[in-house]
Amino acid sequence: MTSKKSEQQSPNTKIQPVSMTVNAKDHLELGGCDLVELADKYGTPLWLMDESSIRLAIEHFKIGLEDYPDSLVLYAGKAFLCLSMCHLLKKMGLGLDVVSEGELFTASQAEFPAERIYMHGNNKSAEELTRGLQLGDVRIVIDNVAELNLVAEIASKLKRKANVLFRLIPGIEPDTHQHIKTGQYESKFGIPLEELPSVIQAAQKFKNEINILGLHAHIGSQAQEIEPYLEYVDILATVSAELKAKTGLVLSELDVGGGLGITYNDKDNPPSIVDWTKAIAEQVLKAFNNKNLKLPRLLIEPGRAIVGTAGVTLYRASAPKVLPNGKIYLPVDGGMADNPRPITYQAEYTAAVANRVQGSASNQPMTIVGKYCESGDIIIEEAKLQADAGDLIAVFGTGAYNFSMSSNYNRSPKPACLLLNEGKAEIIIERETLPDLIQHDRVPPRLLE
Ligand SMILES: Cc1ncc(COP(=O)(O)O)c(C=O)c1O
Repeated sequence: MTSKKSEQQSPNTKIQPVSMTVNAKDHLELGGCDLVELADKYGTPLWLMDESSIRLAIEHFKIGLEDYPDSLVLYAGKAFLCLSMCHLLKKMGLGLDVVSEGELFTASQAEFPAERIYMHGNNKSAEELTRGLQLGDVRIVIDNVAELNLVAEIASKLKRKANVLFRLIPGIEPDTHQHIKTGQYESKFGIPLEELPSVIQAAQKFKNEINILGLHAHIGSQAQEIEPYLEYVDILATVSAELKAKTGLVLSELDVGGGLGITYNDKDNPPSIVDWTKAIAEQVLKAFNNKNLKLPRLLIEPGRAIVGTAGVTLYRASAPKVLPNGKIYLPVDGGMADNPRPITYQAEYTAAVANRVQGSASNQPMTIVGKYCESGDIIIEEAKLQADAGDLIAVFGTGAYNFSMSSNYNRSPKPACLLLNEGKAEIIIERETLPDLIQHDRVPPRLLE
């Protein structure tokens, strides 16, 4: 089936959000909103999220899965989560992967359907697990034997049966940064393949406490190729067949994780959402049919590819600093506190001057630096643009793992986040204030004497 949505360019293959244009004033416009006006009204730095990019990405994942008999897209909340995001996902019928009590709490406050919440994490606390089980039919993705025993104990206390999947280590890795690989043999996440049958057998003994639904794995993030995923699906089918033979387990759910990459700059070339998802779904069909296995419900768990290119961060530049060797630093009013990815992963970004788009390209590059007290607080090395004090710098591809990984480093209040759509800009996360920064500080009375 081809629909209009499927003909639109996959949001993850574009550097800029799908609704981004340049208006008659030569300003960048996003979701029908002029970025210069937004900066004047809401201040900088400012996180902007393009609702049409998020919605289109979600539609593309659904299109990619439409030929598979039973499936669900789980959004990986770690990429970007707030109440509005939960409500949007709920409206669009998605599931949600949460990895902390905070993410679970956010989802519960948005009254996200419990049976579509999947709790991940390699070290879930008893409190987290209890909260999850109290919410209803949440799915718990068990990471290790100790956790299995803990879940069974809590389920028994609560007189509930826990719906669980088991995370395995498939021993495969996509071509990506070391810190965002998760499927390699020495991963801290999941159960080694050779231990899996005994863990399943242990789980089968908890007849009143544990309901085994299936398997989960996630091999890494920012993937640029489909092939490792096809190989990985074959491993999952082989493991499922072996488990069936050894333990009698028939999977009702298979969660293949997330990881599809996005386009941060000209060097990135990820497959489209539809191509990647379709290829995985077809491979699951083929591999499970080949092994005469019942087709499980297929779960796919993207984060970055849903929100990454929807996000733009808007900064105000100060006067460039020119070094004697000709290197030019362009300082902006944010940096590693609102985007720790460059200093953490050497992540690369692309930027433009939002208040005068034409003519701001330059062959003499400027290095865009943040304002924080670390030499590594560099947002973009050698950005090809020409900007001056007062210009607005739009950095693209900041929708995933920016807000969610942000900090208050140097005691900096976090920026506001706006959701933009059809000419409307709505605050979804308020800007932090200076009093917010000291609200949890306490002074022992002796220091006041
Ligand atoms: C278990 C799991 N699922 C899904 C994701 C989402 O990955 P991505 O944002 O690359 O799609 C992650 C990311 O680390 C993860 O650990």
